[in-house]
Amino acid sequence: MDIKIIPLPAENMKAKVKDESHLGFGKYFADRMLLVEWKEGQGWCDARIQPHAPFVLDPSCMVFHYAQEIFEGLKAYKWADGRVALFRPEMNARRFNQSADRLCMPAIPEELFLNGIKQLVGLEREWIPTAPGTSLYIRPAMIAVEPALGIKPSNHYYFYAILSPVGAYYAAGFSPVSIMVEDRYVRAVPGGTGEAKTGGNYASSLKAGLEAKKKGFDQVLWLDGREQRYIDEVGAMNMFFVYGKKIVTAPLSGSILPGVTRDSVLKLAPTLGYEVEERPIDVNDLMAYIKAGRVTEAFGSGTAAVITPVCNLCYKNETLQLNGGKVGEITQRLYDTLTDIQTGKQEDIFDWITFVG
Ligand code: COI
Repeated sequence: MDIKIIPLPAENMKAKVKDESHLGFGKYFADRMLLVEWKEGQGWCDARIQPHAPFVLDPSCMVFHYAQEIFEGLKAYKWADGRVALFRPEMNARRFNQSADRLCMPAIPEELFLNGIKQLVGLEREWIPTAPGTSLYIRPAMIAVEPALGIKPSNHYYFYAILSPVGAYYAAGFSPVSIMVEDRYVRAVPGGTGEAKTGGNYASSLKAGLEAKKKGFDQVLWLDGREQRYIDEVGAMNMFFVYGKKIVTAPLSGSILPGVTRDSVLKLAPTLGYEVEERPIDVNDLMAYIKAGRVTEAFGSGTAAVITPVCNLCYKNETLQLNGGKVGEITQRLYDTLTDIQTGKQEDIFDWITFVG
């Protein structure tokens, strides 16, 4: 499908952010966005790259009432030789369609998803920051825009992608965060939407997040929704724990997000000499192992979070410190290797990089 490029009037061009060391996450947006519509009886249509602008939507639109919405997150990097690299974008396209299926939304052809993003990023390449730890975050999403209040799948959708120059997801940058294991609220249950990237999962996690913040923690770590015993994930990250030279993470149980960075860590770590294991992690065992000094590091993984070290873990009012509160050696090595591949400083032996033409 051809993507129409709608001219960007000079008055719509914003000034680029000069101070790349304080970008934060998702605060600034590029000049253009991608928009494609899907209409019942017609399918995908009207693909265009247009100025980043508000949508005018009827307040009855289904997304506002029943949260029929999905999204993705991926990043573009500007390499020293000027090329623009995307990290494993085909994984995002695939996962987007898995989320679409769970939310009864139409699948988008992967080619349209990928070409649309490549063209958009190509046009907006000036928005890619280059300071260490920065990138251009790409946020594709799909929303139900049929103006109707009956509960059913919408007959009209917007697929769109916006761009945001970002720094580290957590305000403190690449430094350890404190996490509270949530034992009251649950994020996902078997058969629910936990493995889909849909806004509702994040809305329903806000309350626990706020309560954890009041107690001085950065994020909550969710336990499984059935027994509240096994580690699931932190809403914005999958979790890894280091047992000696073995790196362990929870399996894809259907309740956690199949993270692109999670998959990358599982593939990368063995090439650096570490064993990896996906298995259910009982929180009681985990705390006992940390106490005994047998779990020495913990970190989260995510597109936004990259690799984020975890220094404190609190469960039932007991807080245990990991690695003396410092970034662990294995965590640091994985962060360095992964970001070096993403930014072209290290060979991409996995074929993870796609260039924007
Ligand atoms: C990402 O890592 O891209 C995410 O979507 C996590 C979060 C910012 C919601």
